[in-house]
Amino acid sequence: MRSLSGVLAVAAIALKFVSADDDTTTCSDDSHCPESSPCCSQYGVCGSGSYCLGGCNPKFSYSKDACMPMPVCQDSITIFDNYTSKMVNQYTYLGDASKANWTYEGYPIDYDDENALIMAMPKNSGGSVISSTHYMWYGNIKARMKASRGAGVVSAMIMFSSVQDEIDYEWVGADLEKVQTNWYWQGALNWTNSKNLTASNNNDEYHVYEIDWKEDVITWSVDGEAGRTLFRNTTYNSTSKQYEYPQTPARIQLSIWPGGNATNAVGTIEWAGGEIDWDSDDIKDYGYYYSVLESVNITCYDPPAGTTKNGSEVYQYTGKNSWLESGVIITDGNTVLKDYDNSGLDDNTPDKSSSSSASSSSSTKSSSGSTKSTSTSSGSSNNKSTGTTATADVEGSSSTAATGFVQDMSTTSNPTKSTSSASTGSAGGNKNMPYGFGLTLISVLLSMI
Ligand SMILES: *[C@@H]1O[C@H](CO)[C@@H](O)[C@H](O)[C@H]1NC(C)=O
Ligand SMILES: *[C@@H]1O[C@H](CO)[C@@H](O)[C@H](O)[C@H]1NC(C)=O
Ligand SMILES: *[C@@H]1O[C@H](CO)[C@@H](O)[C@H](O)[C@H]1NC(C)=O
Ligand SMILES: *[C@@H]1O[C@H](CO)[C@@H](O)[C@H](O)[C@H]1NC(C)=O
Ligand SMILES: *[C@@H]1O[C@H](CO)[C@@H](O)[C@H](O)[C@H]1NC(C)=O
Ligand SMILES: *[C@@H]1O[C@H](CO)[C@@H](O)[C@H](O)[C@H]1NC(C)=O
Ligand SMILES: *[C@@H]1O[C@H](CO)[C@@H](O)[C@H](O)[C@H]1NC(C)=O
Ligand SMILES: *[C@@H]1O[C@H](CO)[C@@H](O)[C@H](O)[C@H]1NC(C)=O
Ligand SMILES: *[C@@H]1O[C@H](CO)[C@@H](O)[C@H](O)[C@H]1NC(C)=O
Ligand SMILES: *[C@@H]1O[C@H](CO)[C@@H](O)[C@H](O)[C@H]1NC(C)=O
Repeated sequence: MRSLSGVLAVAAIALKFVSADDDTTTCSDDSHCPESSPCCSQYGVCGSGSYCLGGCNPKFSYSKDACMPMPVCQDSITIFDNYTSKMVNQYTYLGDASKANWTYEGYPIDYDDENALIMAMPKNSGGSVISSTHYMWYGNIKARMKASRGAGVVSAMIMFSSVQDEIDYEWVGADLEKVQTNWYWQGALNWTNSKNLTASNNNDEYHVYEIDWKEDVITWSVDGEAGRTLFRNTTYNSTSKQYEYPQTPARIQLSIWPGGNATNAVGTIEWAGGEIDWDSDDIKDYGYYYSVLESVNITCYDPPAGTTKNGSEVYQYTGKNSWLESGVIITDGNTVLKDYDNSGLDDNTPDKSSSSSASSSSSTKSSSGSTKSTSTSSGSSNNKSTGTTATADVEGSSSTAATGFVQDMSTTSNPTKSTSSASTGSAGGNKNMPYGFGLTLISVLLSMI
């Protein structure tokens, strides 16, 4: 079996859009991040700041402690009504989960007519992602949503852990009657685990997609009807004597991404149902492809019996036990970075003056006329994270703001043709990032080799 490092290297080359600039450092099993940019992000790129928060991979980072501790699971009901102003840009978020339950990348837009959130993917963009700031270590998640239509357009809802355990729903916009389910263990690519469930008319109609994640069984249900189960006891590897079952704290992420973009590998495009038509009716009428998110409800389950617990605030990897469930403890600890240049290796003790640099959302001052804006992906105060430079080139007006790249979507029209716009705009779209989700993209790629 191929090693993950090989896999990621291939992916990094194949997915040219991982980075437009060449001064990014990628990370993998046998190429950990350097001390100067110690955190390995979810996308396999080294940096500091936001790279050390959600998704930071302790296995591939300079050391596991470069990654900040993970906020524990919190029961929640989120109705995504007029919600864009409550989310924080992934690249300006500094880790204070008490200030925001969700971060975003890309182009979220309020959808007033349906009291919901549009996750948009404008022409040639990488789409949008929202991520929970709290992790879950077993629990139940339900999302009421509509998937995007369009060949090559992929909508996704996944649980993704820092060591790449993954539980998925994925919709390919070429087939609006089904949803694909999948799972991975520690990034091991096994593309035999995909299974389709019925989810009829899923672009026009809301359905409730549910993942019930317990220590011994995962159940995927659509509208309350169980469609698939995975028992832990069927995942035993008698060679390694381990259960290869998703078992580490994971964030919830919802996204839309261009699996069928022309620059992607042939296998990815095929899996996504063909090449994206960037001149489709949705692009012409609204300016983007989109999925719609109405609500997400989370119920936490107890951590595994026997878990070492000397606090209640954060999950932390001990670095022992091969990054399995038994290598995670619950303790107390600061989750907030003091500065965009910092990692978990720095002193993040808050200043006495304690002004809140904890979470800054972007202000939007629209300067229309320009259709192209360039800035760092991570906010002006960041100069170490390796998001480097993103260039936006999207129809409609765009603007730059103090915190960096801001895409003002307010001039693009809405699916219902009536008024509703992103009052906050949406910042931080870095189209160089593979918004593609988890490992599916990579596995599809490799399956063609
Ligand atoms: C996060 O969710 C919890 C639980 O639903 C809620 O009490 C809290 O107000 C939310 N936090 C923010 C910043 O919206
Ligand atoms: C949306 O939320 C903003 C900020 O919380 C508030 O000022 C505005 O009145 C809300 N708009 C609607 C239509 O509820
Ligand atoms: C999509 O493909 C176009 C060329 O057709 C390219 O300009 C663009 O950068 C690609 N976008 C992504 C996110 O890969
Ligand atoms: C979440 O809970 C609220 C309140 O009970 C409910 O209105 C909503 O439909 C629920 N959403 C999902 C996805 O179950
Ligand atoms: C893939 O997973 C299945 C179980 O779903 C297992 O039977 C098979 O051996 C795995 N293959 C590899 C190469 O890991
Ligand atoms: C799931 O459905 C898609 C078409 O939407 C098809 O291409 C794929 O082969 C199916 N997967 C499985 C495992 O049956
Ligand atoms: C796995 O566990 C389930 C539930 O406890 C049980 O019904 C099933 O027989 C077990 N399967 C195997 C292969 O041990
Ligand atoms: C089982 O574990 C061994 C040793 O880590 C590994 O080489 C092998 O690929 C695994 N088998 C499956 C089916 O995952
Ligand atoms: C809890 O235990 C961990 C690991 O032994 C230790 O690093 C940490 O300081 C302890 N925390 C508290 C709050 O006692
Ligand atoms: C940017 O980096 C330079 C040199 O490393 C440092 O002096 C400066 O304080 C940094 N700026 C910010 C805003 O972090």
